[in-house]
Amino acid sequence: MKILVTGGLGYIGSHVSVLLLEKGVDVIILDNLDNARIEVLDRIEAITGKRPIFEQVDLKDQNLVKALFATYPDLDGCIHFAAHKAVGESLKQPLRYYENNIGGLIHILKPLTRQGIPLIFSSSCTVYGQAQELPITEETPLKPSSSPYGFTKQMGEQIIQDSCIANPNFRAILLRYFNPVGAHPTAQIGEYPQGIPQNLVPFLTQTVIGKRPILKVFGSDYDTPDGTCIRDYIHVMDLAQAHIESLNHLISSSQSPSCEIFNVGTGTGASVLELIQAFEDATGEKVPYTLSAPRAGDTVVAFADVTKIERKLGWKAQYTLHEALKSAWDWEKQIDKNP
Ligand code: WQD
Repeated sequence: MKILVTGGLGYIGSHVSVLLLEKGVDVIILDNLDNARIEVLDRIEAITGKRPIFEQVDLKDQNLVKALFATYPDLDGCIHFAAHKAVGESLKQPLRYYENNIGGLIHILKPLTRQGIPLIFSSSCTVYGQAQELPITEETPLKPSSSPYGFTKQMGEQIIQDSCIANPNFRAILLRYFNPVGAHPTAQIGEYPQGIPQNLVPFLTQTVIGKRPILKVFGSDYDTPDGTCIRDYIHVMDLAQAHIESLNHLISSSQSPSCEIFNVGTGTGASVLELIQAFEDATGEKVPYTLSAPRAGDTVVAFADVTKIERKLGWKAQYTLHEALKSAWDWEKQIDKNP
């Protein structure tokens, strides 16, 4: 089986590429290296003993995308990760986000729909905004996004759903990730934020290792048990496995409906303070933090109802939050050794 993984040198994409290679899949990684490092290719080979084909292509260049599909006419599927993903940055650079995330998606959808190559799309729980009902199900109504990044995920889903309707031989699965955390158990690959980390766990591990002076807890008097925001933190290895199950489902069944949506989370929420405590319990390290002002745009509570993916794909998260945070710490410690 030959699978194209766009954004395959990125955080989630690299972990999925490892699992695909370990299952004997021929992997073609497409990445423009805008937010990924070429060293990840060596790390993937070190973990799996196999070196995927790498194509440095920017999906905004439609001619390069056409040439890529001419070079690989026998693809069995595509997993599309390539996108900009920083909520705050998207507010400052909306056109860059729309051009890259929507333009790139359209360029890849043209050959996929024409050739009937199934697609797995990296979506996000961001599409829900602050849900009124919890846990969040796939039927929970979407809210207008508070960021261009979130809009690109909502629009991306709509574009793919419309493409499935218009092209009877084209099928897709949309995976709405909750909060991916952690790293591969070998600590060879993991989350590698450029600049100051926006997300909680990489900022926390950089603080504990001494790269940041202190972790600010954004908001401590929300309407939650301990006053801090609640999220559904899922180990990146569990998230990667959900892509394998999705691919198997797409390839092996004449999936109906032709566009399926799945939440991918643990089904359990944890507050920021609970995550800090879990990290300290899992690693024996102390997290220097201070309670700080809320961050604009944050949803207060978000965690998934994951019954649909378990029922239809037989997938369920296996790792604990402690295991995920221990892996994040092991990864942070090795970054300085092998930058
Ligand atoms: C989690 C919690 C913060 C940093 C975003 C995107 C989402 C997905 C994951 C791409 C919140 C708090 C954070 C810090 C803190 N990305 N926090 N101090 O905002 O839930 O989701 O990243 O798909 O689409 O929206 O994740 O890790 O930024 O924040 O207190 O230094 O940690 O307020 O409550 P978020 P996050």
